[in-house]
Amino acid sequence: MPRGRVLTLAVLVSAVFAAHANARFDALGSPGLGDPLFPLAGNGGYDVGHYALQLAYEPRTKVLDGSATITATARQNLARFDLDLRGFRIGSLKVDGRPAAFGRNGQELQITPAIPLKSGRQFVVNVSYSGVPSAVTDPDGSIEGWVATNDGAFVVGEPQGSPSWFPSNDNPRDKASYDISVTVPAGLTAVSNGTLVGQSTRNGRTTFAWRESFPMASYLATATLGRFVVTKGRVAGIPSYVAVDPSQVAGSAAALAQFPEIVRFLSSIYGPYPFDTVGAIIDNAPEVGYALESQTKPNFDSAPDVTTLAHEISHQWVGDSVTLTTWPDIWLHEGFATYSEWLWADHTGQFTPQAAFDYYYSLPDSNPLWSPPPGAPGDAANLFGDPVYFRGAMTLQVLRNTVGDAAFFRILRRWATQYRYGNVTTAQFIALAQQESHMDLGAMFHRWLYEPGKPAV
Ligand code: TRP
Ligand code: ZN
Repeated sequence: MPRGRVLTLAVLVSAVFAAHANARFDALGSPGLGDPLFPLAGNGGYDVGHYALQLAYEPRTKVLDGSATITATARQNLARFDLDLRGFRIGSLKVDGRPAAFGRNGQELQITPAIPLKSGRQFVVNVSYSGVPSAVTDPDGSIEGWVATNDGAFVVGEPQGSPSWFPSNDNPRDKASYDISVTVPAGLTAVSNGTLVGQSTRNGRTTFAWRESFPMASYLATATLGRFVVTKGRVAGIPSYVAVDPSQVAGSAAALAQFPEIVRFLSSIYGPYPFDTVGAIIDNAPEVGYALESQTKPNFDSAPDVTTLAHEISHQWVGDSVTLTTWPDIWLHEGFATYSEWLWADHTGQFTPQAAFDYYYSLPDSNPLWSPPPGAPGDAANLFGDPVYFRGAMTLQVLRNTVGDAAFFRILRRWATQYRYGNVTTAQFIALAQQESHMDLGAMFHRWLYEPGKPAV
């Protein structure tokens, strides 16, 4: 093609771009995704497809050296975009192999690539960083993120702990696949999500290479490390990897013995297990005070009872595979996982979900169980409060009593299969329940999810 024609085409193309408001090359990716509770978590303007993290941790000095290679796609023209990262000294930062300018502002790592990124283009960010990670203190006072332990670290990220150990688009809407490799002093074990694809020791250090190829929200990533007794095998036909702190082995045995039956039972409720590995990480980190459903390997701060184990395994379907879009919908995780506990209790002959409902319903109006309502926790400090868990589960029992068992279990299974690996809203759950039951459930859901105070039955 003659030179003149190419030039004409280039002029035409840039004129078309300029005409489109969003297509300016000076466009900035937003510093957050506007979550009502965590407005700065995540970043606008791009989607991450894959994180490749290479980490090395020295428990003696507590220094974490990291290199993150992030493959993403621009969703608008980007002169600048953000990642979420808390602390650390940045060694080098490149976009598509070229050094990029960067600034820091709170948890925002602001990156200006040498060449602006065009909408639709895939790009690769490489960040090398080093420092002593700090745990994140949540609005409810609990700690998360990279929590140092006597022999390593307990690593949990809900709702905002991941930026304490790797640069990310820390929002549950941007799921990605992960390769996480962790190098630790020989004798320690580093456990992450998915499959162990490599383990090698040299010069007194062992590298564990993990791969999670299923879509995963950043808050579900883990890299818990320390002294562990590891059991590899199969659970309900699925490859499993269970790591238990030596001090917790005896206390965990009874619950772990139920692991296969829990997976089989929950598969009968929600459909096939959504990932290709199962497991658990049982550490000794009692200062954390809770367990977390890290994808394929829930983290426990101490030996769990069987109810807690069932709760976290159920989250693999409701929470990890089917994930909220914004944090105020957290009852879609915790209400369902609590209801799963009640189903397990029924399955094992302990009590029925109706008995659990009746017990909680007997609590007086003044009990903190009733407010704020589970569908509108209102403040980030209430995310993991009693209403979200118990009144959330009670809402499902009211649904069951309203639509009958057949429709109810169809709804649960359809929810977990239709929205597998996706992000959901409460409105989508209500719509699905109405569609499966052919009933108008709007008033019932409104009363149970959104009105403060004890609902009338
Ligand atoms: N999601 C966890 C569960 O399975 C609980 C949890 C995560 C939590 N982060 C928290 C509880 C912070 C209290 C504070 O129930
Ligand atoms: Zn839970």
